[in-house]
Amino acid sequence: MKYLDLNQTIGDSVARYPELARVYMKYGVDFCCGGDRSVGQAINNDTDEGISLIDEAEKAIEFSDSHLIGETRSKISDLSSALLIEHIKRVHHAYLKEELPLLSSLLFKILNVHGINHPELFDIHRLFSRLKADLESHLVKEEVLLFPALIEDNHDICHLIDELEKEHDAAGEALHQLTALTDHFRLPADACKTYQLTYDKLELLVSDMYLHVHAENSILFKRFC
Ligand SMILES: [Fe+2]
Ligand SMILES: [Fe+2]
Repeated sequence: MKYLDLNQTIGDSVARYPELARVYMKYGVDFCCGGDRSVGQAINNDTDEGISLIDEAEKAIEFSDSHLIGETRSKISDLSSALLIEHIKRVHHAYLKEELPLLSSLLFKILNVHGINHPELFDIHRLFSRLKADLESHLVKEEVLLFPALIEDNHDICHLIDELEKEHDAAGEALHQLTALTDHFRLPADACKTYQLTYDKLELLVSDMYLHVHAENSILFKRFC
């Protein structure tokens, strides 16, 4: 093993090598809410699956490294807190503000047309609606209460960080349920284009949320509490 360190936490390994996010997601290794476990605890390297995960992870890092010519890895963990907050707002918050309403109307559309043959869409629609409402108030808490305090270097906000981390856990649980209810976003044989677009967007939402929560829990919040 050339790059992965089994004693490092899963969260730190993604901070060091962001390309691991894709590999961890493929194998269902939670690196945002379960980011404090060590790599060795999260991956059983005695099993075939563990061995192929490690093999893929090493190859992904090696591939990225071989494409860095005369430059160093740019990592979000190297950003100052002010720039990291800017990154989170510009990349992840802007994405959610645009995609959540869109997904909501897409889900309502496919529920109308396909709900009769696919009753799981009722649960998916209800679960998503609750997640959307929770995430919207979560974004406002971060942008209005937390981020300005962090920019002022106020370390007296651990109670708020604690509350936001609990909200991350709840969102992570909802995303796990969405993944299970959609059978890992597998389309039924009678799915139309809108159905496909909705599932593609839901899958992207899950991967974006993983990276978003990772940037907050494992990098930004740790600097203050
Ligand atoms: Fe956020
Ligand atoms: Fe957050």
